[in-house]
Amino acid sequence: MLDVRKDFPMLKQDIIYFDNAATTFKPQCVIDAMSDYYENYSANAHRGDYDISYKVDLAVENTREKVKKLINARFNEEIIFTPGATSGLNDVVNGFFANLLDVNDEVLITQSEHASNVLPWFRLAALNKCQVRNIDLNANYKVTIENVLKAITPNTKVISLAHITNVIGDIRPIKEICKIAHERNIFVVVDASQSIPHMKVDVQDLDCDFLVFAVHKMCGPTGLGILYGKKELLESLDPINLGGGMNESFDSPNEIKLKSLPLRLEAGTQNIAAIIGLSAAIDYLLNIGFDNIYKKEKELKDYLISKLSHLSHIDIINYNSESGIVTFNVKGVFSQDVAYYLNKYNICVRAGNHCAKILKQAIGDTNTVRVSLYFYNTKKEIDDLVELLSDLDKIRKEMI
Ligand SMILES: Cc1ncc(COP(=O)(O)O)c(C=O)c1O
Repeated sequence: MLDVRKDFPMLKQDIIYFDNAATTFKPQCVIDAMSDYYENYSANAHRGDYDISYKVDLAVENTREKVKKLINARFNEEIIFTPGATSGLNDVVNGFFANLLDVNDEVLITQSEHASNVLPWFRLAALNKCQVRNIDLNANYKVTIENVLKAITPNTKVISLAHITNVIGDIRPIKEICKIAHERNIFVVVDASQSIPHMKVDVQDLDCDFLVFAVHKMCGPTGLGILYGKKELLESLDPINLGGGMNESFDSPNEIKLKSLPLRLEAGTQNIAAIIGLSAAIDYLLNIGFDNIYKKEKELKDYLISKLSHLSHIDIINYNSESGIVTFNVKGVFSQDVAYYLNKYNICVRAGNHCAKILKQAIGDTNTVRVSLYFYNTKKEIDDLVELLSDLDKIRKEMI
């Protein structure tokens, strides 16, 4: 891989950043694309009849096309801009499944889902519109086909899973799950927030019904996500927000005519600068190549695991996960204290429950330390981290 570090202004600071599952740094080309919009053609989209507004329309729709190609959707109309992955999941739950499910219908999730893929379903269940049940995780906290089959009942209507989880970092067999689900008329919702930035994802190959992701975890700006849905399903997703840009006409409460997809689901002014930044981020990542990105992260992750596994005071939670996420605890030291200690040496890791609060039921620990790698991390950074973690007395002495 070429020297990518020079592309990231944040990497010029004296910090080691290992919290890429929370958000990634942005390359200069993304920052420049957004500045160019604000400096040179800062108009609204789909509204104006003048040159700079046309230029914005073009930029927004080109980005939609790029996202379509990135995930191999069939139609541009299947790509909806949202404020984030959370927003996309809430749209799917409240705009589609709330109208479809009934009190006895079952939604299958797991204990390692992010809050965004738990709470909207919990609320639906609290409103007596479904039951939420877990697919059991195996001894390595992974989803197996065997356990999916065990969890499915005649009442199962939806399986909603992260493609890669944000604490365990396991890659779920989504393609096989979709096949099993569709043979039983079960919908599959995929939270791809932790997979899209790191590997090639093909929605037609997976055959999932809905898929969401957050743009800020893939070198793009914050405040933007993508909701993908099969066109025929998105057609019957009720917009949660109504307003400008998404209607054809409204003469009275009973005479509201909405636009067709995708605009029907994009009420109000979109985060145009972020959409333009996403376009640059996609170009940037494609230029590096997702195979190279995944390979580099796997190499770094294996290197980190091999080093940490020599330290007897480190309990690694997810030895066997396939992504660049390594979760562990230092024996007898609270995870947040480990993070504070490392922060003294300008190393950024995440500590806590990582928004996966029901995972504690499976791993028996509420709090962990998480190192999440991206392709711009280096073995030298890992050496620095491991050196600091190798001295338990020093950790104890210096914490807080
Ligand atoms: C697996 C997963 N799903 C959903 C989200 C939510 O993303 P956002 O906060 O950008 O909406 C995250 C963010 O950490 C995540 O890791």
